[in-house]
Amino acid sequence: MNVKPDFSKHGNKAETAPAFLSVWDLHAYYGESYIVQGISFNVHEGEILALLGRNGAGKTTTLRSIARMDNPQVNKGEIWLDHQPLHKMASYQASIAGLGLVPEDRRIIAGLTVEENLQLAQIAPPVGWSLDRLYQLFPRLGERRKQEGVTLSGGEQQMLAIARALARDIKVLLLDEPYEGLAPVIVDEIEKTLRIVKEQGMTTIIVEQNAVRALQLADRAVILDTGSIVFDGTAAEVLENEKLRAEYLAI
Ligand SMILES: Nc1ncnc2c1ncn2[C@@H]1O[C@H](COP(=O)(O)OP(=O)(O)O)[C@@H](O)[C@H]1O
Ligand SMILES: [Mg+2]
Repeated sequence: MNVKPDFSKHGNKAETAPAFLSVWDLHAYYGESYIVQGISFNVHEGEILALLGRNGAGKTTTLRSIARMDNPQVNKGEIWLDHQPLHKMASYQASIAGLGLVPEDRRIIAGLTVEENLQLAQIAPPVGWSLDRLYQLFPRLGERRKQEGVTLSGGEQQMLAIARALARDIKVLLLDEPYEGLAPVIVDEIEKTLRIVKEQGMTTIIVEQNAVRALQLADRAVILDTGSIVFDGTAAEVLENEKLRAEYLAI
């Protein structure tokens, strides 16, 4: 049986309820390189957390650690999702437990149509959002459902990658630089969609180089610098703090 973690040890300010996703004292390496150096943070159910920091700060490594990918190697720390100990799981188990990682390179499967990419995600129960509901969320995908996924524009491929995560029954959406390389008008469209997904109750972590856009969307922000957390607070606090923005986000 899974044991409810003791969230009091996090020492976070004003924690009143146990977090939905909780990362405690996480350390991660690539071989000898010590990258994530003992980070702890919480994400509450239904909120959007922006995970920010300069290039190389350790954002992708943190997402990959939470998703239990083989690389990096996590040698210490606990990750709890809705009372399930992710740190004891392999990546496929974490995926079944409710993690939906949308990697930076999107991983659309070549040779499959839009619809087949989505159906593949629904092969194993429990199934998440239905195709109808996904096409309502992303009308462009509905229009192109018979088209091969890899022939879509960058923005549409990003939409497909997000839709594919939602096609499984996930509890947390992990987005790695979803806006990268996309025109502002497409970013607007994806941002609007992520707001709708939040309204439906989804919990999201967004990693973005476009920090201003991410902060406009997010409730809270965690800023990483060389593998350590230098800020944990509201998105509004970051937007108001010129020093923080200049020092860690170059905005
Ligand atoms: N597969 C890897 N092998 C070795 N080092 C890596 C690997 N991936 C990333 N790194 C290093 O880990 C650090 C953090 O990288 P990353 O988590 O990708 O940063 P971010 O996503 O914040 O830009 C960087 O110094 C990067 O060079
Ligand atoms: Mg990255």
